[in-house]
Amino acid sequence: MKNLNHSPSMPVLVSSDDESTCNHSSSDASISHDSNTNESTQSFHRSGSSVMFSDISNSKAVTERTAVAPHVGYKKVLVTGGAGFIGSNVAEYLLSRGDDVVIVDEINDYYDVNIKESNIKLLQESYPEEGRVTFYRGDICDEELMENIFKTDQPKWVCHMAARAGVRPSIQDPFVYIHSNIKGTTQLMELSHKYGVENFVFASSSSVYGGSKSTFFSEEENVDNPVSPYAASKKACELLAYTYHHLYQLNISGLRFFTVYGPRGRPDMAPFKFIDRVSRGVEMQQYGDGSSSRDYTYISDIVDGVVRTIDRRHKYELFNLGKGEGTSLKKFIGLVQKHVGKKAIIKVMPDQPGDVPYTCADVNKAYEYLGYKSKIPFEEGIRRTAEWYKTTYEKKEVQVCSEGQGCAPSMAATLVEGN
Ligand SMILES: NC(=O)c1ccc[n+]([C@@H]2O[C@H](COP(=O)([O-])OP(=O)(O)OC[C@H]3O[C@@H](n4cnc5c(N)ncnc54)[C@H](O)[C@@H]3O)[C@@H](O)[C@H]2O)c1
Repeated sequence: MKNLNHSPSMPVLVSSDDESTCNHSSSDASISHDSNTNESTQSFHRSGSSVMFSDISNSKAVTERTAVAPHVGYKKVLVTGGAGFIGSNVAEYLLSRGDDVVIVDEINDYYDVNIKESNIKLLQESYPEEGRVTFYRGDICDEELMENIFKTDQPKWVCHMAARAGVRPSIQDPFVYIHSNIKGTTQLMELSHKYGVENFVFASSSSVYGGSKSTFFSEEENVDNPVSPYAASKKACELLAYTYHHLYQLNISGLRFFTVYGPRGRPDMAPFKFIDRVSRGVEMQQYGDGSSSRDYTYISDIVDGVVRTIDRRHKYELFNLGKGEGTSLKKFIGLVQKHVGKKAIIKVMPDQPGDVPYTCADVNKAYEYLGYKSKIPFEEGIRRTAEWYKTTYEKKEVQVCSEGQGCAPSMAATLVEGN
């Protein structure tokens, strides 16, 4: 196993020399798993994710209803959006434990494409051996390309992270969200059922909860009132996923991520923007009076939750993946100042349409079904992210793109403001 020093975001990996075996004992898997039998003789270092499940499998929390034994054998995983923030981190983790990845990403210019290209380069350079990282640059809605990938590479596990992300830009241009998120997800589920995929895991979002008034957002809540096209597109994916499970018994889990941040994070999101702006001494925008609160989840916790879900072939489930605790905007900015070591120059702006004032995950279901529990406290996550920014980002040339393109506003503003 490689020790990757470039990525402080990765969870500590458990190194094991155990011969891995293909475990097909999933209690409710409804698809034949014979296709993996030939692969079970390969030896791989297993991840902390599967190993750690045994820690909790004896606990009372795991009932007969919820226990789906993790598949612990080798996998070839199709990671869509693998050039992006979460997808590249998941791919890196899968590779580090011995799985192979097939990545499809169109590398769109929603934010600086150099970031996405360097994520792919990092994976390819870390795992140069034939067949470890197969990369296709293209649109997941391209039928010919996708059919060819399923035919040629035959991935039996799908981690579908590709999407147009971002709430505010979805109000300006809803159609690209309908295309990538709804059409793209449908296309992948269609092919997954056609080619006998074992498990289909896709990214939903906490934004489906809209303006929920609950203290902890639970998967049992009604989420029929999305407040942005982005949120509506994710809810639509959840509905279509149920349909594919119902019609074809495709094993599908949808993951509602709660604001993910950390090293290699998205430059259009507040954690990166704030650290970037405070570091450069550039004015930053604070929406609202600072009392809004969010559940911020550190990238290694999300990767852990995603991999746990890939390993467990649930028939159809939705899971919150969050920290389970909110942080106010005021406190957040205070921590950024503390760990960057500079004072923020703040411009207070009105609340934005589509934004929700509060998010907080109920993570009990993810704990019960997956053994998921977030480990990184918010202050530690911000400390690590600020440190990563200092050592890797501050020195780099930043490619600037206009706000109209949906690119990182902080970077656009950085150029305008002459920094
Ligand atoms: N980051 C968060 O806080 C967060 C929160 C909730 C949900 N999510 C979801 O998690 C997933 C990953 O998010 P991220 O933060 O890594 O975003 P990201 O933008 O960094 O990654 C998404 C990747 O998908 C690619 N992509 C988009 N449309 C595509 C298409 N049609 N064909 C091929 N590739 C395409 C993009 O080029 C990008 O590299 C997304 O589905 C997002 O909606 C993220």
